[in-house]
Amino acid sequence: MLRAGKPGEGRATMPEQHSSINSVDWDPEQDRADGTRGDGLRSAERFAEYARLREQAPVAWSDQLGGFFTLTRYADVTAAAVDTKRFRSGRPFIAMPDLVGQIPISLNPPEHRFFRRLLNPFFRPERMRDLEPLIRAFAVEHVEALIEAGESDAMTAFCRPLPARALATLLNLPEGAWQDLLAQFRRFDAVGWKPEQVNNMILGVFSEHIATVVAQRMAEPLDPDDDMFSGALATEIDGEEITVEQVIMIGVQMIAAGHATTADSLSSAIHRLAEDPDLQSRLRADLTLLPDAIEEFIRIDPPLHELSRTPADVVDLHGRTLPDGSAVSLNLPRPTEIPRCSTVRTTWTSRATPTGI
Ligand code: HEM
Repeated sequence: MLRAGKPGEGRATMPEQHSSINSVDWDPEQDRADGTRGDGLRSAERFAEYARLREQAPVAWSDQLGGFFTLTRYADVTAAAVDTKRFRSGRPFIAMPDLVGQIPISLNPPEHRFFRRLLNPFFRPERMRDLEPLIRAFAVEHVEALIEAGESDAMTAFCRPLPARALATLLNLPEGAWQDLLAQFRRFDAVGWKPEQVNNMILGVFSEHIATVVAQRMAEPLDPDDDMFSGALATEIDGEEITVEQVIMIGVQMIAAGHATTADSLSSAIHRLAEDPDLQSRLRADLTLLPDAIEEFIRIDPPLHELSRTPADVVDLHGRTLPDGSAVSLNLPRPTEIPRCSTVRTTWTSRATPTGI
């Protein structure tokens, strides 16, 4: 049976059930045909590789990272993502096997449903609408500082601070807490892509930070309908209060899930707009196109390329057998496979971009 492993922990071999398929389909670390790394997650080679896999290997096998399968086609990915009986959440992506316990992402029904019911009200549309003017004001403040400076790195000056401030606002963190968050995020740069250290940072540093906030909420609760931590602390499961550890893991999940995703998406959108003055002009001229454009930016350059799932039972798909407990990733970027948004399509299809849009 396959198991999730850490990079470099050894190569898995194709499980026995796979004697009919004896090839390794891809190497996720390799961007170029000659075996070297290209320009990383946004490289044209990587997107070409995804397209090749969709065509030739709907269930692709890689012997890297301990060995894992990747579902590459849209229909299979969307079906598996919601098929919680056959494809279980809870084992983090194979490069990060220790990153367990975040709530709700690592849970399955019925526990997952309970926590989603608890958390959904804090993301309800009216609440988001109330936050919007504040977040817009933050955005303007950072853009004005950028204009004042004349020149700046967009990631440092805008893409990272804005989501840190938005998260701090969402979680009712005290004034200035976003700068502490930013300082912690900057520590990721020093760590680089070393999964164990990333795990330690997320679970250690973030949970320490959140534990302090949760302790404050226990001492001085805020309105439980408006404050996620106070609301969670006031909730009971089957007559038992949620544990402080569970509340902390909710906070860790918010920070871990909510910052890099949005910072990276903002930077990809800025990069795309910088490369495409026509698209910039079109969006400036018709601001009603913005929501569709944002959807498109995230679809074309998603900050996450793979989701992890674990088959609860043997799954047969496209002639391959996925053993129960094997590591399965669901490949997300799909620049060409699903219909694009009709309002912005014309501009983008006429462009020759690395993703072929
Ligand atoms: C462009 C921005 C974002 C993208 C592309 C994104 C993407 C995703 C994806 C693909 C998942 C599903 C993971 C899975 O099924 O295994 C997910 C889950 C989640 N994300 Fe995000 N996310 C973004 C921003 C955020 C933000 C800002 C927050 C919080 C403030 C957040 C909180 C969560 C949570 C709590 C979950 C778990 C949901 C559950 O298990 O029901 N995400 N996100």
